[in-house]
Amino acid sequence: MALEGAYETASDPQNDPNEAVKTDACAHFADASAWYRERGSNPHDLYRSTDFKSVASTNSAIPARGSEDSQRTPTRLHPVRDPRSKSGIAGPSTRQPYISPMQSFHTHTDILGRLAAQAALSSYVPYSGKKQGAVLLLEDGSVLQGCRVENASYQLTIGALDNVWSTAHAIGRMDVCAVASSETWSKADRAFLEAMSSFGWTFPTDSLAVLSEVLPEPLESIQPLLQGDVSEPATGAELARSSASMAWVPESDFPVGCIVRTESGHIVPGVNVEHPDWHRIICAERNALSTIVAYRYGAVTDIHVSCVKDPGGSPCGACRQVMVELAPNASVWLDRPDSPPKGMPVSSLLPGSFTGRNLRRHVT
Ligand code: THU
Repeated sequence: MALEGAYETASDPQNDPNEAVKTDACAHFADASAWYRERGSNPHDLYRSTDFKSVASTNSAIPARGSEDSQRTPTRLHPVRDPRSKSGIAGPSTRQPYISPMQSFHTHTDILGRLAAQAALSSYVPYSGKKQGAVLLLEDGSVLQGCRVENASYQLTIGALDNVWSTAHAIGRMDVCAVASSETWSKADRAFLEAMSSFGWTFPTDSLAVLSEVLPEPLESIQPLLQGDVSEPATGAELARSSASMAWVPESDFPVGCIVRTESGHIVPGVNVEHPDWHRIICAERNALSTIVAYRYGAVTDIHVSCVKDPGGSPCGACRQVMVELAPNASVWLDRPDSPPKGMPVSSLLPGSFTGRNLRRHVT
């Protein structure tokens, strides 16, 4: 018998809480398209799903030097402004005007703010309706995004900042220069950032945190995907095991790696990311699942988990609760050192789970 997952009705648009989000998103993208068209840039260049696939063996979303991807011209997230041209948009042959570091700082942070607002549109917020987005700017101008992902068990909700920060760990990109939020930072968010970086943040605005006075131009939106074939449980386990090397585990020294596969073939990594405040620790499974939501990768088919220091490792209760809500029809595969991965349906993981169906106030 199928478990009464809160996502059970997701195939019915009438009952799908994300339909409201999608409708908003369409309106937003229409606006965004106009904004970019006006400035001579293609909005669809922002999020191309296949560009930044990493090589499974390196477990990094950064293309290897000399690879086809690394030689590709970066997509600009914004056009170059030229005050001498009538439209304000630089033509192909115009020289770029001098832009002071202060000006470019403001231009770049303005773009980050817009991207954070855009990231918020992916939020899964059927309980509060409060969308929230955050983006990270990395040293080479790459941008990562996260959004708020709620759960019927409220306390398991993943905030946009935690979401994007854990994604960066999963793909081995901790060269963070700036973080922007669609909302004003909470005290807890500031404390989170302070605890996660020893470099010392400054907060130029109440929704921005930077580690440097000079920021790279936001150039490219990274897709946090891995390449490889995880159609076999054994290869999924292998990739989950190698992903665990990206775990940030100063509290437990217990790395966990997770690989989530979607119906459309996306392969998304997750690792556990620990924080001195244990309440803000995110498990590998929840890391990967919140990435799926942030990037709208769609329905999950398989979740491969490797607790590399525990031959009998199994998902914790919190992760089971989140899986039941976000991936009710998926299969879970547990890495085992001396035997094939142990498989089970998500629906068997948490019999009688709390669905919170009466709590859904933001269903269209
Ligand atoms: N952990 C996971 O990543 N997934 C699980 O399902 C079990 C627990 C992590 C969280 C924390 O970093 C450490 O293991 C100890 O709980």
